[in-house]
Amino acid sequence: MKLKEMNKKLAFAISEIERFHEYQKDDERVNPKTSYYGYIPFGIYEYSYLVGRIRDIIVKREIPLSQIKFLEVGCGIGVKMTVAQEILGIYPEQLEGIEIDSNMVALSENFTRSKVHNIDAFDFKNYSNFNIIYYYVPIANRELECKLERLIEDNLKVGSFIIAIGKQDTEFRTSKKYIIHYRDRDPEYSGHRQIIEKIAN
Ligand SMILES: C[S@@+](CC[C@H](N)C(=O)[O-])C[C@H]1O[C@@H](n2cnc3c(N)ncnc32)[C@H](O)[C@@H]1O
Repeated sequence: MKLKEMNKKLAFAISEIERFHEYQKDDERVNPKTSYYGYIPFGIYEYSYLVGRIRDIIVKREIPLSQIKFLEVGCGIGVKMTVAQEILGIYPEQLEGIEIDSNMVALSENFTRSKVHNIDAFDFKNYSNFNIIYYYVPIANRELECKLERLIEDNLKVGSFIIAIGKQDTEFRTSKKYIIHYRDRDPEYSGHRQIIEKIAN
């Protein structure tokens, strides 16, 4: 079997695993009390492409991959962390996750062998420790989601990247603190994707 074909099959198997765990919590996409989304996985093909783009930038800048720290906000079962680990060629110790659903945390820690914090993303204090932060719109309420996005951006180190899927806040675009390396799809679409880099404080 050719490598490309093998990768396609592997990606398909991963999507099936993610689909199996989708909405396991309570059959609801959104928690009515908090407005937090349940586990709705983002497509693995496009995700892999975005991580690969960041890898290319890092390699081009000659930043050692051994120094990279990756964080997934709302990591669910941890599949995306493991895929990032493979694409970036880094160790489990270089990745961390945040996940509010404790059932998911047990699965993701077991799966990734990385640290997964079982807390609300609003209570996480170490966003500044990471070079790459990934999220797929964890909160359905627009105002709250924007608040979380700003919390991450305000704490982000200069030179760090965000892979933002379905980002709700658009104000950052007029700020000189960020550059957008990649943007795809209509900003109104929930799967709108961007690679953002913080370039100034
Ligand atoms: C839309 S799913 C994305 C899953 C995964 N990141 C992906 O890209 O496939 C959102 C995830 O964020 C978690 N989540 C939602 N609100 C959260 C919060 N405030 N703090 C931490 N995790 C949260 C959910 O339990 C769910 O696993």
